[in-house]
Amino acid sequence: MLSPNPLSLLCALLLCLPLAIFFTSIHPTPIILNKPMPIPKSTSILKHPNKKSQEEIQDQHDELLFELATTHTNPKPIRPNKIAFMFLTTKPLPFAPQWESYFNQTPKNLFNIYIHADPTFPYNNPPFSGVFFNRVIVSKPTKRFSPTLVAAARRLLAHALIHDPSNSIFVLLSPSCIPLHSFNFTYHALLCSGGKSFIEILAHEVGSYDRWAARGPHAMMPEVKHEEFRIGSQFWALTRQHAWLVVSDRVLWRKFNVPCMRLDTCYPEENYFPTLLNMWDPEGCVAATLTHVNWTGSVDGHPRTYEAWEVGPNLIRRMRLGIPRYGKGNGDGRSDPFLFARKFAVDALQPLMTIAHDVIFRD
Ligand SMILES: *[C@@H]1O[C@H](CO)[C@@H](O)[C@H](O)[C@H]1NC(C)=O
Ligand SMILES: *[C@@H]1O[C@H](CO)[C@@H](O)[C@H](O)[C@H]1NC(C)=O
Repeated sequence: MLSPNPLSLLCALLLCLPLAIFFTSIHPTPIILNKPMPIPKSTSILKHPNKKSQEEIQDQHDELLFELATTHTNPKPIRPNKIAFMFLTTKPLPFAPQWESYFNQTPKNLFNIYIHADPTFPYNNPPFSGVFFNRVIVSKPTKRFSPTLVAAARRLLAHALIHDPSNSIFVLLSPSCIPLHSFNFTYHALLCSGGKSFIEILAHEVGSYDRWAARGPHAMMPEVKHEEFRIGSQFWALTRQHAWLVVSDRVLWRKFNVPCMRLDTCYPEENYFPTLLNMWDPEGCVAATLTHVNWTGSVDGHPRTYEAWEVGPNLIRRMRLGIPRYGKGNGDGRSDPFLFARKFAVDALQPLMTIAHDVIFRD
């Protein structure tokens, strides 16, 4: 660390002025309204706001967001340790009532919720209420087979880092995820197990070369050699240190943030995070995801979806008995519990609610 002197402080102040203006517009509530998400009004920092397209303004917003998340946050969390639950969705959350009862049995000072939601979805009513009210961050549309899902997850990390210095572990969830245990159980499993991230990191998977070459045969070179390329579940739990590493990354993101030439092998959200963390800090990762998924009988790249009639205590027990698939090192004898599960059909909500208190939230 450099020790500050008056000149460097002055420079820092001048340099930070535009950031500070931006900062006050998103802090302490980086969260925006519970209605279709407008473009943020941080126009005071733009030279010719009227001449800029919406996309340019959005890009500028992202740039400042990542700048802020890197320069104005501490990679070390302060107590009390909190879990940042980050929902990445394109529609209202079908299992909101289930999550609502999950969070309602939980001390409010131990978690935060963030939502990245497609601003173009035709929401009728305010889509996010209860514990989800006012938790939507500035979001952009996302689509499969493009880097937009990675961009959305990075945006969630950046907002959560800035919003609360106590956020200690950052969990990415999809709208079709449900909890498999109580909050208390999940909190201890994530935060009392040696301060590591849980992220699936697989090498030598079938199709790995085609995924690596999806942007063109040499597009990833020289930064990411094929031997360094990894595959893993889109859903992970990252420590604050790793969240900070991700938002400060410019090098790999520049490589992955390129449209694919081949869409059928284009899953950047399953490659960027495991590749980056495996290159930067493999020892800081438990190489498995704690989100249960069933790939037997998958359709069109989607895992098996559990229908309402299948949901009952036995399904929850079967999922809890599963052992995560560990990448490198085969987990060194670990067997971490699954904490979340996907995917469930929307009408599985009722049977899930029926068993919530006696089965799901009982560990
Ligand atoms: C919370 O979980 C921990 C570890 O799983 C356990 O030891 C403790 O008794 C639980 N507390 C409550 C209030 O259930
Ligand atoms: C996964 O799906 C297969 C095929 O439908 C099924 O036989 C199996 O029981 C499922 N696993 C779990 C844990 O539900």
